[in-house]
Amino acid sequence: MCGIIGYTGNEAAAPLVFEALTKLEYRGYDSAGIACISEKGLEIKKEVGLLSDVDAKCNFSLLNGHVGIGHVRWATHGKVNAVNAHPHVDCKGKIAVVHNGIIENYQELMGRFKGKHKFLSETDTEILPHLIEDFMAKGKSLEEAVIETTRLIHGSYAFLAISSDCPEKIVGARKDSPLLVGLGESGSFATSDPGAFPAGTNRQAFVEDGEVFVMTPENICFFNPEGNLLQKEFSVFKGVPASAGKGEYDYFMLKEIAEQPDTLRCSIEQEKNFFTELAMDILRAKQVVITACGTSRYAALVGRYLFSRVAKKFCDVIMSSEFQYFSDSIDAATLVIAVSQSGETADVMEGVKRAKEKGAMTLSIVNRPDSLLTRISDKVIHINCGPEISVAATKSFTNQLAIFYLLAYSMVNQFDLAVKKINDISHNMSYSMNGTGEYIQQIAELLKDENDFYYIARGINYAIASEGALKLKEVSYIHAEGMPAGELKHGTLALIDKGVPVVAICPNDYTFDEMLNNMAEAKARGGLIIGVSDRYDPIYDHWIKINEVEEIFYPLVTIVPLQQLAYHLARSRGKNPDKPRNLAKSVTVK
Ligand code: AGP
Repeated sequence: MCGIIGYTGNEAAAPLVFEALTKLEYRGYDSAGIACISEKGLEIKKEVGLLSDVDAKCNFSLLNGHVGIGHVRWATHGKVNAVNAHPHVDCKGKIAVVHNGIIENYQELMGRFKGKHKFLSETDTEILPHLIEDFMAKGKSLEEAVIETTRLIHGSYAFLAISSDCPEKIVGARKDSPLLVGLGESGSFATSDPGAFPAGTNRQAFVEDGEVFVMTPENICFFNPEGNLLQKEFSVFKGVPASAGKGEYDYFMLKEIAEQPDTLRCSIEQEKNFFTELAMDILRAKQVVITACGTSRYAALVGRYLFSRVAKKFCDVIMSSEFQYFSDSIDAATLVIAVSQSGETADVMEGVKRAKEKGAMTLSIVNRPDSLLTRISDKVIHINCGPEISVAATKSFTNQLAIFYLLAYSMVNQFDLAVKKINDISHNMSYSMNGTGEYIQQIAELLKDENDFYYIARGINYAIASEGALKLKEVSYIHAEGMPAGELKHGTLALIDKGVPVVAICPNDYTFDEMLNNMAEAKARGGLIIGVSDRYDPIYDHWIKINEVEEIFYPLVTIVPLQQLAYHLARSRGKNPDKPRNLAKSVTVK
């Protein structure tokens, strides 16, 4: 949620900053901007739109200078317009700031400057260059001014500041939002995501909560909140798995859906002993709570069924944004399992921090290595699906499911069996993808003008109905609801009318017979039934055929056609499924 990058060194800054922004764009894409310092002073270019469109309008390469900061925005405070785009400046146009996070007390701080400072935007961020300006006017250096500023602001932040009064220098600070620095041959970088570092940025260090740093082309030094110099170890940069291009696919979403048979096989590359140890932790815990958001939460709901059905261990799933309201019942005998693709979702981070405060043990199931979540959790499972670029989660979901199968089976000493079963399923997945893609595309074409879709299922498949509906909303902007099929008659049935699509996830398992009744109830009201099943029934208006698998493994095969349906509906409505409006891949604000 907003990506920031800074560079100071021997090379022209703007092209390096722009290149890094292309790798950060998944964090926000409603507007973008770059500020550089040259002999002429501070120059800024910023505009609304995708990064490539902003560049076409502004031509970032016209910015001169060897120090620069850049930003891709996901709006929190203030409309999406060029004025609210970052970087933001002080009154004299000498100081520029890019920021990820929310300064919660910005209005109160702005009040102090009434009549003294001129604010141009509606953003919380704009307070930062003005606070820095104020401290510098009192004789403080840029770094002293940033340290003083961090003492006044509340909220979450990762920000970078430059001033034409001290060219070559970038000062940054962080609290609760990701930020790290790297040293390469050509100079120093700071960014939200190590994936944005250019090749050759060999030494890196994480900026810890409350720290402030100063970067020059040759050196980066750190200060604690009291302003004391810190000794900091730089580690040798291991590199981030390259985010490959789209290959033969038009969109990352379709590529990532298609990758699932392969990525699923990567999920099972795990240490058996580690899983045995984790299984003991889960079984021993007085209570187990899983916390996550969005798609990761639906994976957690499948996990809850698995723990109960396979290992007879009850656990609860709490949406991370609601976790704080349950923290009274979390204690040292609780195991909190956090699930997150990005490992930096603010709501999840907040939940895990609260759990730790209560003395609970924390286990995270994460995709991004070295993410903030991996660094604060007691134990970490990596889901190994590689970089997921499309905002809509697909392959990370199936790998999260795989981890829950491994955990549940480990709880009954059957880790190896789970590995074998998941490996077998990966082949079934290939079939379902190759066999159904074109048919689903035809259904999407028929239904592209519908306004509402309902997804129903029972038992372990209920979470898949919810995830299918989320995918559809996210990428096609069609209203969709996923629910337990038995719940339909308790209210939502009132909305089923002639031709309303009802996607029924009804594999040939313990839920099939009751699903038939629920489909009949919907059909009797005119609903158009799209059955996702390995078993035919004349009640279907459209039948999306899946492969038969063992009962509790159906979620791994039923989700694939639902991902495809969402993708094709988005495309048939002319939407870009990789960058849905209003969303971002990494949600780093609460
Ligand atoms: C999924 O398609 C969404 N982009 C979203 O719901 C996402 O799953 C959620 O924001 C949680 O993200 P995380 O897994 O990175 O924590």
